Amino acid sequence: MELVKRTKIVDLLKSEAYGSTVNVKGWVRTRRGSKQVSFIALNDGSTINNIQIVVDVEKLGEDFLKPITTGASISVNGVLVQSQGKGQNVEIQATEIEIYGTADPNTYPLQKKGHSMEFLREIAHLRPRTNTFGAIFRIRHNMAYAIHKFFHDRGFFYFHTPIITASDCEGAGQMFQVTTMNLYDMKKDENGSIIYDGDFFGKQASLTVSGQLEGELAATSLGQIYTFGPTFRAENSNTPRHLAEFWMIEPEVAFNDINDNMELAEEFIKYCVQWALDNCMDDIKFLNDMFDKGLIERLQGVLKDSFVRLTYTEGIKILEEAVANGKQFEFPVYWGVDLASEHERYLVEDHFKKPVILTDYPKEIKAFYMKQNEDGKTVRAMDVLFPKIGEIIGGSEREESYDKLLTRIEELGIPMKDMWWYLDTRRFGTVPHSGFGLGFERLLLFVTGMANIRDVIPFPRTPKNAEF
Ligand code: 4AD
Ligand code: MG
Repeated sequence: MELVKRTKIVDLLKSEAYGSTVNVKGWVRTRRGSKQVSFIALNDGSTINNIQIVVDVEKLGEDFLKPITTGASISVNGVLVQSQGKGQNVEIQATEIEIYGTADPNTYPLQKKGHSMEFLREIAHLRPRTNTFGAIFRIRHNMAYAIHKFFHDRGFFYFHTPIITASDCEGAGQMFQVTTMNLYDMKKDENGSIIYDGDFFGKQASLTVSGQLEGELAATSLGQIYTFGPTFRAENSNTPRHLAEFWMIEPEVAFNDINDNMELAEEFIKYCVQWALDNCMDDIKFLNDMFDKGLIERLQGVLKDSFVRLTYTEGIKILEEAVANGKQFEFPVYWGVDLASEHERYLVEDHFKKPVILTDYPKEIKAFYMKQNEDGKTVRAMDVLFPKIGEIIGGSEREESYDKLLTRIEELGIPMKDMWWYLDTRRFGTVPHSGFGLGFERLLLFVTGMANIRDVIPFPRTPKNAEF
């Protein structure tokens, strides 16, 4: 085959170099046609759109074309011409085709017919080849890029916090242990407790649930930082919004109070959504038309208004009034309860009809590091609640008083040996500071309109599932 430099389909579809010879490589989506002419829809992953390859059957031979079926990979040399067909500006009149790999129609699972999302999860190694998952993973990349750009442009530093840790940031006991010990032969002391002396780290270690504590060390030196990395939670909740391995973005800013924190969170999310609308419209349009006719409208909707800000206590009042007026929730509503996603979504979707930032939660249902309010009952927490998602961000102003923080740590029985370094931020040059965590996959649920969080991460890890 004549050597012609490859052009990506995304660029060819914008090209006006009619008459020039081009090379394109990709995977066959479909091939159809007649005895005289064959049309191949080719995709190379660079865009949701296919390029049409027009083949003179007589010239290349019917037998040669036979193995070019859905899923096969080919390289095509041909002439770029203006297309007469609907839906595309250009097409390629093939002069030469090389077949890299065939895909037996009897065994290749991604034939033309639509597949259920459940089935596609079982073939997560192949699902990026579908239009839907191609769109989702291009959007995922774009969102990651937008996040780095947002923070970099505002003078934040990307700070790498450890993945293996010996402290439990959220204190919720949902950590996956990391060990090199022989699980069949663990040494125990006379009380039956495992002796970790001989383990790799010489103590109990786990995968992190959050980079926040180390992020605070960085914020109280570099000023404003963010983390963006994988986090792990062994929570046995089989819901469409929970993963055992998910990615989190955690900005942390010295001298910010809870109001600055809320402003940052709102500006940040709106920036990401705007970025998606500006840079991923082909993919979003596809998802809007195929899955969720309200998607684009919902994305534009959150950009329009300011997020509602109200306290947990006010939120509970609204929910209690709703119950008094006949609204039925699965879980009870009362002051002190940890809100379920149905409660959060009621506030956002039914009551206010826009995103809500709920603040000042009861301290019992929030983590030890949150700044305590004067009432002695609540802490300066903030959760950002979104339509269709519920909680998308969780954060707070941090307790900067050494004494108050220490008292809380002791009240909750958190082992001091794990926390001495964290307390040093309050011992030496302590400052007010705030931060939050955005669940990357929750953001992607919102931006793609997908209904299940397993469908916005390439290889989801959930209870009883670590395939691929
Ligand atoms: O509310 P969370 O637990 O907050 C923290 O971890 C804080 N340390 C963050 C901080 O202040 N720096 O988690 C933050 C966000 C949630 O709002 C949610 O979007 C996401 O992380 N999240 C999950 N996403 C997917 N699967 C799970 N199991 C998640 N748990 C939390
Ligand atoms: Mg939370």
